[in-house]
Amino acid sequence: MPACYKSVTMTLTVRKLHPLFGAEIGGVDLTRPVAAGTFEEIRSAFEEHSVLLLRGQAIDDSQQIAFSQLFGPLETTVSANPAGGTAFARQSNLDINTGDMIPVDDRRMVYQRANFFWHTDSSFKRVPALCSLLSARICPPEGGDTEFATLRGAYATLPETMKQKIEPLIAEHSLAYSRGLVDPNVLTEAQKAEVPPVKQRLVRTNPVNGRKALYVSAHASHIVGWPFAEGRALLDELTAHATEPEFCFAHRWRNGDLIIWDNRAVLHRATPYDTVKYKRLMQRTTVAGDAPTVAQ
Ligand code: OGA
Ligand code: MN
Repeated sequence: MPACYKSVTMTLTVRKLHPLFGAEIGGVDLTRPVAAGTFEEIRSAFEEHSVLLLRGQAIDDSQQIAFSQLFGPLETTVSANPAGGTAFARQSNLDINTGDMIPVDDRRMVYQRANFFWHTDSSFKRVPALCSLLSARICPPEGGDTEFATLRGAYATLPETMKQKIEPLIAEHSLAYSRGLVDPNVLTEAQKAEVPPVKQRLVRTNPVNGRKALYVSAHASHIVGWPFAEGRALLDELTAHATEPEFCFAHRWRNGDLIIWDNRAVLHRATPYDTVKYKRLMQRTTVAGDAPTVAQ
């Protein structure tokens, strides 16, 4: 495939980011209303490539919401997030009201540390998220990259016996579990009660192209109906496989980048930056999925 080619209707350009997944999309300006035909192309590129990068998009919050809503209704962030109760998840070391840098031991910074684990957004919700859109407003000059891993690539390379073993399995996911990996006290009892544990299928099938993905995440604690330790060992083994270097790439952010990722088909994780020295502000909108992956 050439490094850069025009899509069929010649509206967007598509440049692959990794042999297995990810594409940079050019030829769209999100500060203006996006034509229906253009959105159709973006949506089908999303189904195909799982991670889309759009550069030079100096959007504000309302433009981000308007574009995100083209994918479907948005989720409201859980109350524990620094932007809880809004359409945004705020990944930042800047106070939402004052803009001052937040001290490293502040609860808001501890909460964000769970993003260092490979995860997929909102798998702790009964109806897990379709996609997330992360807009880079202020980037640190070094560090703070985001890494992605393809869960389709991971699934496709599993031995046939493992594919058969995991096909019927269901994992329990919860925010209390993943946040507890950082600090068991980071969520209050009320915040835990807001999002009780849910069940998710371990293998998901894309409804458009039928491609299967291994649906693991830091939110997954164990396998339903299995002894905890045995399920934990399987989830650890599958996550280690899914995040082998051949399935991953890192994104070095520039201000104005927007990345859309498919939470059904990729894992992602944050990487550290110097939160005392540098500012970082990333705004995430999250598009809700349309159904549970399994009866609850
Ligand atoms: C997120 C997330 C990673 C980052 O926004 O969901 O995990 O690098 N972000 O900020
Ligand atoms: Mn995330």
